[in-house]
Amino acid sequence: MRFKTLAIAAFALAFAFAAQAQQPIVVKFSHVVAVDTPKGKGAERFKQLVEERTKGRVKIELYPNSSLFKDGEEMEALQLGSVQMLAPSLAKFGPLGAREFEVFDLPYIFDNYAELHKVTDGPVGAALFKKLESKGIIGLAYWDNGFKVMSANKPIRMPADYKGLKMRIQSSKVLGDEIKALGAIPQVMAFSEVYQALQTGVVDGTENPPSNFYTQKMQEVQKYLALTDHGYLGYAVIVNKKFWDGLPADVRTALEGAMKDATKYANDIAKKENEDALEAVRKSGKTEILVLTPEQKAAMKKALVVVHKENEARIGKDIIAEVYKATGFQP
Ligand code: LMR
Repeated sequence: MRFKTLAIAAFALAFAFAAQAQQPIVVKFSHVVAVDTPKGKGAERFKQLVEERTKGRVKIELYPNSSLFKDGEEMEALQLGSVQMLAPSLAKFGPLGAREFEVFDLPYIFDNYAELHKVTDGPVGAALFKKLESKGIIGLAYWDNGFKVMSANKPIRMPADYKGLKMRIQSSKVLGDEIKALGAIPQVMAFSEVYQALQTGVVDGTENPPSNFYTQKMQEVQKYLALTDHGYLGYAVIVNKKFWDGLPADVRTALEGAMKDATKYANDIAKKENEDALEAVRKSGKTEILVLTPEQKAAMKKALVVVHKENEARIGKDIIAEVYKATGFQP
């Protein structure tokens, strides 16, 4: 009888071990945008590559569109381990205490993707990721989105047109200063709430690249979109450090390889995704697209570059100088 009980217990234990060995490693990857965006598609590609290459040993669970956590919640969820991976915009690292990331928000600091990549692929990109480690976070990759447009329900061509408008921004002091430099009122708000806030008039306008504008259907609630290209919006793909360090080495290597390939894919499609989204807004016939004259562009730039100096102490003079060196920006 005793032997039988022991045998059953041993069998049950062996079964439990075997079952555990077969359990896939689950990576919850949460983000706030639609699937049909550069970030949404990059995340899909990462999932596909990881699951193929690890033959199901790793399962990537994607939670797009703020379906698991929204802005203001997701960083803490990552640090607590409720989610393993995120790709927040670079404008959302200030509240974490990594204010240096706001260098990417400085108006007009990048003229194009090539200039931006000199920074993300260079020493500044690496130094910023190093800063995250003390916060229990590892930076895996930079993913592109694109250059921002401004929108509102009145024509916005010159700085004076923004006076008094309530503009939704992400949680970045630099972006707050940018809106104030136009005489408008910045309002920090989670991305998931923007459509409704525009619809109900809680805010008058906002800024984002066309892909975010179109996939959130902002053309339904904004009459004018100005092609200002006044700043860049992109992402850092980040992972919980404890989780990452605890992965079997071969799994980590597979994830790193998949991230490298998903990054190339996401960055290759970003520009065209934004061009297509702008075209789709145009075709919708709901939002008038304002092309600024060289004089209007120059006036916007003049009004906004003051934000660089204002944020020198916050971001760090050295970091700003390094970015200027890489991009050739002249203040
Ligand atoms: C926003 O909050 O406006 C965007 O950063 C959302 C995103 O992740 O692209």
